[in-house]
Amino acid sequence: MSPTEPLSAERREAFVRLIAKHTGIEIRARDQANLSTKISSRMKALKLDSSTAYYQLLESSNADSHQEWLDLVTLLTNGESYFFRDTEQFSLLRNQILPELIQQNQDSKTIRICSAGCSSGEEPYSIAILLKELIPDLEQWNLLILGVDINQLALEKAKKAIYSPWSFRNVDPDVKQQYFQLIHDRYKLDQSIKEMVNFQILNLIKDEFPQQDSELRDMDLIICRNVFIYFERAAIAKVISKFHRTLKPLGYLLTGHAELSNQNLNPFQIKVFTESLIYQRTANDSTTASLSSTLDEQQSYYPENLSSDTDDDLGDNPHVGRSIRMQQIALNLLRQLPPDTTIQKLGNLTAAELILQLETELKSLDQELS
Ligand SMILES: C[S@@+](CC[C@H](N)C(=O)[O-])C[C@H]1O[C@@H](n2cnc3c(N)ncnc32)[C@H](O)[C@@H]1O
Repeated sequence: MSPTEPLSAERREAFVRLIAKHTGIEIRARDQANLSTKISSRMKALKLDSSTAYYQLLESSNADSHQEWLDLVTLLTNGESYFFRDTEQFSLLRNQILPELIQQNQDSKTIRICSAGCSSGEEPYSIAILLKELIPDLEQWNLLILGVDINQLALEKAKKAIYSPWSFRNVDPDVKQQYFQLIHDRYKLDQSIKEMVNFQILNLIKDEFPQQDSELRDMDLIICRNVFIYFERAAIAKVISKFHRTLKPLGYLLTGHAELSNQNLNPFQIKVFTESLIYQRTANDSTTASLSSTLDEQQSYYPENLSSDTDDDLGDNPHVGRSIRMQQIALNLLRQLPPDTTIQKLGNLTAAELILQLETELKSLDQELS
């Protein structure tokens, strides 16, 4: 294929699988024609006239391949973001979660927060503004706000911290007035806020974390919103497991609404607020290793290549696989309710009691299958 010819369906499918494996991003059927155009434009830039050669470049693991992924990813990701995106979740952070973290860490005066999939920085800078407003003796504190993303161009923009009016769709004019300086038609973030945030390039799928020799560890809060909507289910499970290990005991994970439906969230306690759900790593450190391995093990309910409508890999009997999946879905639904909600049609048991029953049932099915 020359850069101007369309990809064959087979070749396109191979690229789709490779991209999902490398980035977690699922290229849906409706976007696949667009993918061919993007691949052609990369082949042209590299002066390659065979899609096989381009595929082989991406598949290898040398410096050229690494560089090409950095460039290709800038075409594949959607970096849509704005300050204080999702009023409800920001009000939960402002009124509950951040005050709780500030209170808990009064002695060490240390708080560690990661915005994963931070794009051009609006999300971590919004957190920095909140912390500045919530902590009167800020200079006494050791705060880490780390923004990570796979897209190098988005991170360059984040580090510049100069924004168009479009990034302020949801911003109180007072905040804009207080923390930004209008230069021509652009808004430059105040240096004191800019200095509160660090950025790092990171591929949530391929890169190892937590990393004890870097800042990506022992987080009090990980915010990962509007990232998983683009991911395959198996990729989401992989990243949740890494997030679990990257959080401190009792640390929080905040995702976009409903981005984790259908995932196994056993190692987290789900806290229900009117504004949003938030997932909390459990407190008991001694069970941490087994909890993490439970999460990894239970991902085997959703093996890598299993599409949502096949159950073939779940044991010999497809009905067992389907039954497990149904129970997981029921479990996730129940976890979204306050634990003491009674459910009349199910013998007036509470959500917490039903969760326990389903978890026990799933564990015994797990043992039978292994
Ligand atoms: C829609 S933006 C979300 C920005 C911000 N979190 C928000 O909600 O406003 C999604 C971001 O996820 C990033 N992303 C996608 N796949 C990623 C991966 N495998 N590792 C790290 N970041 C990724 C994209 O580059 C993009 O910047």
